[in-house]
Amino acid sequence: MIEQIRTVAVVGAGYMGGGIAHSLAQSGFEVTIADVSAEVARTHLDRILGEAEQFEAQGLFAPGSAAEVRRNLRAADSIEDAVAGVDFIEEAVSEVPTVKHEVLARIAAAARPDAIIGSNTSTIPVSVMAVAVSRPERFLTVHWSNPAPFIPGIEIVAGADTDPAVIPLVKDMLTRAGRQSAQVADVPGFVLNRLQYVLLKEAMSIVEEGVATPGDVDTIVRSTFGFRLPFFGPFAIADMAGLDVYANGFATFEEAFGPRMAIPGLLRTTVDAGRHGTKNGAGLTRDYTPEEVEALVAYRSEAYARMAALLHDLGPSPVA
Ligand SMILES: NC(=O)c1ccc[n+]([C@@H]2O[C@H](COP(=O)([O-])OP(=O)(O)OC[C@H]3O[C@@H](n4cnc5c(N)ncnc54)[C@H](O)[C@@H]3O)[C@@H](O)[C@H]2O)c1
Repeated sequence: MIEQIRTVAVVGAGYMGGGIAHSLAQSGFEVTIADVSAEVARTHLDRILGEAEQFEAQGLFAPGSAAEVRRNLRAADSIEDAVAGVDFIEEAVSEVPTVKHEVLARIAAAARPDAIIGSNTSTIPVSVMAVAVSRPERFLTVHWSNPAPFIPGIEIVAGADTDPAVIPLVKDMLTRAGRQSAQVADVPGFVLNRLQYVLLKEAMSIVEEGVATPGDVDTIVRSTFGFRLPFFGPFAIADMAGLDVYANGFATFEEAFGPRMAIPGLLRTTVDAGRHGTKNGAGLTRDYTPEEVEALVAYRSEAYARMAALLHDLGPSPVA
């Protein structure tokens, strides 16, 4: 097993692969990209370097960041040339299982035996892709979000055969690239897209039922619960709102929409145990001391005030 990931290849240097290569190169990793041909890889290299210059000129990354990307990034003539000798390979080709299988098989055949291979798939389970690689113990999903140079969170999905020792190495690489990672089980859609798709589906149902226009749905999402989400996930938000309040809300929803909106078992048992969130120091996943609640409220107030100031400074989206 390698001690630390230092060298990386990204296979498929399009929208996501290019952003991943940019992020890792900017963080000091030696990165080689490959695509369908040497020419396409070189075109992507030029694009990534141009974007790095543009990001720096806009003040989005520190002075010198584009030079760091240029220093650390190169384009290979082939997949085999890119992956030979590197510690970690990220596959980011099209979301088509047959294409992933063909590319992953080529990567596995040319990579070092101890190299770790990750896939950036958005939805395909590791179990479906792992059949293509010769060493499934070194294979996992490392799912970046769009746009990769800016979104900090990464989903890590280990398959049934993934060696658990691979996970801390990948997490360490992501931490050194300034990223936060979370490990989730090997199910289609993982966590990010499962939640995101449910939101989109419900938003579309709301529009189809004539409850609100798309514009008004967007305004509500951005300016109410979406406003909280950079700071808190749904569990912390429910703890702060009151778990008993949520339980009563689910009763109303179940009456209106049926079993699909019934109170979840986890919430029912938590409330039945007398746990109502921060208001009585007993939350869904943890207890809170009075000092912790005070600190949480102070953090929340500052976070929301600064978020409001940021949105005021930045102004609305140009296509809002
Ligand atoms: N676009 C998103 O918002 C997003 C977000 C997260 C994850 N993803 C996932 O990332 C992966 C890539 O998506 P994308 O949006 O960057 O697509 P993209 O079309 O921009 O890039 C895919 C790249 O793979 C290359 N490619 C295709 N077949 C190849 C082959 N046989 N050998 C070498 N290179 C090949 C293409 O030439 C292209 O450059 C997909 O699995 C997708 O589901 C996409």
